[in-house]
Amino acid sequence: MTLHQRKAANKKKLYDSKESFKENNREKKNVKANEQNENCQDKSFKMPWKKVISRFMISMLLLFVVYWTSNKENFHVLASQKDKLQLITAEVPCSQMYKKEISRFKECIPKQCGRLVTDIVITPEEAANLLQIAKKGFALGGSLGGASILDLHSGALSYANSFINIYEKISTQNKNVFTTEDFKVYSNVRNKIQQIVAYNFGIPVTKLYLTHPTFFSEMTTRVAKTKHDEYWHIHVDKETYPSFYYTSLLYLSDYGIDFSGGRFVFVSNSKNMTVEPRLGRVSAFTSGSENPHYVERVNSGTRYALTVSFTCDPKFAISDPTTSKFQ
Ligand SMILES: *[C@@H]1O[C@H](CO)[C@@H](O)[C@H](O)[C@H]1NC(C)=O
Repeated sequence: MTLHQRKAANKKKLYDSKESFKENNREKKNVKANEQNENCQDKSFKMPWKKVISRFMISMLLLFVVYWTSNKENFHVLASQKDKLQLITAEVPCSQMYKKEISRFKECIPKQCGRLVTDIVITPEEAANLLQIAKKGFALGGSLGGASILDLHSGALSYANSFINIYEKISTQNKNVFTTEDFKVYSNVRNKIQQIVAYNFGIPVTKLYLTHPTFFSEMTTRVAKTKHDEYWHIHVDKETYPSFYYTSLLYLSDYGIDFSGGRFVFVSNSKNMTVEPRLGRVSAFTSGSENPHYVERVNSGTRYALTVSFTCDPKFAISDPTTSKFQ
């Protein structure tokens, strides 16, 4: 057989089997029709189940569509984990409180209040390095509840239901945990974040100062033990930490891959905006009451991030950590 002949033979086979299938179906239908006729003769009334079921299905579908669209309207995805974003921004009018607070620092006033998200400032390698640094630190402690923090500036590390100083702990051990290279990566990343924040809000980079607390966070599904574990309450950063003027976050793990739940949500009466964490993603916003927010509870896995906070008030400035912290 040549290839052509074989093809033709196959086609014929296919055609034959299709025909016999049709034939079978026709027979089945006839049988069904006959059965139905008999049923009709047997009883004068029969519940129209098909109609009932199909109507039920249609109304469920409608309900679902209404529910889905109403949800969609109020829940806007500002940054999806799946997209690699250059720079996206959302403007929000500055709150009165924020305007008043920042008026003392003329050169630090943003050209507009709002939010930004970018995936191109911090490389995946830098983010992976920072994740390793965070994990080395958390290995020496960790909260019993769902959320742990590690602040490389003050040395604060969650430990059971409280905090210890990680540098004191390291000093009592023989080996060094963090290297000069670790601190170099850390400073480099925070400088890049400072630059994008200053650029986006239209202020000189020298008018921003790193401030306290700047820390790694680790969120798990463990049940909260203290109020420090309850990260899911809506709050305004400037109210929690008066030194904050600009808040930024660097995500060190991926929403939908490393963990579920745990999206960042900007809350407002008209529209809630979510930022889905993505390795190396930077999200930043003005810290006033124009930006109330919360983090959803983590449902599975572990979520890592670095909070980098900036102030306009030089008296709240802090410097980058170095190995001198424990040497
Ligand atoms: C935004 O989220 C908050 C908190 O979950 C909720 O109370 C509020 O109704 C939401 N806003 C909209 C417009 O859906």
